[in-house]
Amino acid sequence: MSQDKQGLTTNWGAPVGDNQNSQTAGQRGPVLLQDVHLLEKLAHFNRERVPERVVHAKGAGAHGYFEVTNDVTKYTKAAFLSEVGKKTDMFARFSTVAGETGSADTVRDPRGFSLKFYTEEGNYDLVGNNTPIFFIRDAIKFPDFIHTQKRHPQTHLKNPDAVWDFWSLSPESLHQVTYLMGDRGIPATLRHMHGFGSHTFKWTNAEGESVWVKYHMLTEQGIQNITQDVADKIAGENPDYHTEDLFNAIDQGDFPAWKMYVQIMPLEEADTYRFDPFDVTKTWSHKDYPLIEVGRMVLDRNPENYFAEVEQATFSPGTLVPGIDVSPDKMLQGRLFAYHDAHRYRVGANHQMLPINAPKNQVNNYQRDGQMNFGKNGGASVYYEPNSFSGPQETAAAKPAPLAVEGFTDSVAYLQDDFYTQPGDLYRLQSPEEQDRLVATFVGNLSAVTLEEIKIRQISHLYKADAEFGKRVAEGLGLEVPAFSETL
Ligand code: HEM
Repeated sequence: MSQDKQGLTTNWGAPVGDNQNSQTAGQRGPVLLQDVHLLEKLAHFNRERVPERVVHAKGAGAHGYFEVTNDVTKYTKAAFLSEVGKKTDMFARFSTVAGETGSADTVRDPRGFSLKFYTEEGNYDLVGNNTPIFFIRDAIKFPDFIHTQKRHPQTHLKNPDAVWDFWSLSPESLHQVTYLMGDRGIPATLRHMHGFGSHTFKWTNAEGESVWVKYHMLTEQGIQNITQDVADKIAGENPDYHTEDLFNAIDQGDFPAWKMYVQIMPLEEADTYRFDPFDVTKTWSHKDYPLIEVGRMVLDRNPENYFAEVEQATFSPGTLVPGIDVSPDKMLQGRLFAYHDAHRYRVGANHQMLPINAPKNQVNNYQRDGQMNFGKNGGASVYYEPNSFSGPQETAAAKPAPLAVEGFTDSVAYLQDDFYTQPGDLYRLQSPEEQDRLVATFVGNLSAVTLEEIKIRQISHLYKADAEFGKRVAEGLGLEVPAFSETL
């Protein structure tokens, strides 16, 4: 931590005469308004906090690189994936979802898994979770869902009634809830978990041929989880346990790594696959669409400054490069608005200019001005288009491949309503010991719910997924097995 001794200056670069004693009128006189250094210091301090992220507020980040290990050029023309051995600088941020920036790391919650690739064609962000699925499948439900995860407006306490009321009234959540109540609901460290793009994206190759794609980042450290008891203990003793673990591992040269794989679905199979591939509450079977290796991500450098690099980092699923595009997934489409809107509010209109967010290639466009525009702002160059002054021009080859659409504009529900097959499979796939822990976690969490109606409604979903699963949770809660279970 040693620093060369340099003179202390104000933010305008002038030397500071005294940084320990305010200017006063005489030995005991009042403090003077003319002490501009004091005024600047106090005023700047008042503005040290930016709004925390409305979700995923608690996080840890690190720098690293991505290296291509398999040729995927027949699927995508993305330049950073163009040849085996090619390396691209990256920044990653891992987070919990519901808690505030000071909240404990070891809570039962999905973990955010945000990746920023600084490619030669601009930044590419993959903003996923450590789960391959999500609780809801339409962005219009997201603010309501998140309200249930946050604090009660009167008591300012977490509210299990709201959490389970919403989940039990939104049966599409069952798959993710089953995942979350299982062993993977609390990873041992951020290094010992997988990451997923969760949504379906579109890849397009140099010939203009497209496929649907799902991303999997598999941890090379192996999956390790901790039980609720251990997690609760750690939360009390060291709420920053995961943050500390990631920093220390990298500091000690034990660089965590993940292998990137994709599942590829031919475009036309989206119409006939047994699950809607644009429904983020569903996975694709690995038997139907096996994992194809793409590359390897290594995190080998800690941030030098948490605020500048981790807090001010802005990731968006809409930050894409040619060859990688979105799908019609309704959640993903809503996210395309939400992130940069949040960034403009949280960090500012020119958040892309900050070193952590700025692409490594040159930015050329006609956008100008705005708060905190600390670059050259285009200098004297042409500031509108079309123009006769050789200003930058579009690259037609970068246009996303067209996608055929049909039908009427309307607010429509998803056509598929199978909320139960995949959560039931998730239960049946587990070992008896895992099932015991899953049931115990459901029972423990549902015990905190005060309204019996909510518990019964949730149990009815578990029955529909797997009768034994529902029966065991009902028994654990001391509730009668609901009569409808006989008919399922
Ligand atoms: C962060 C909105 C769904 C993963 C955020 C932020 C917003 C947001 C506003 C804060 C951004 C910031 O201040 O920088 C939404 C909306 C969703 C949605 C409206 C649904 C339509 C999802 C899903 C995933 C996800 C499905 C994962 C598959 C994340 C992650 C972050 C985040 C990882 C943290 C980004 C970071 O590290 O800075 N979300 N989200 N979100 N969201 Fe979402």
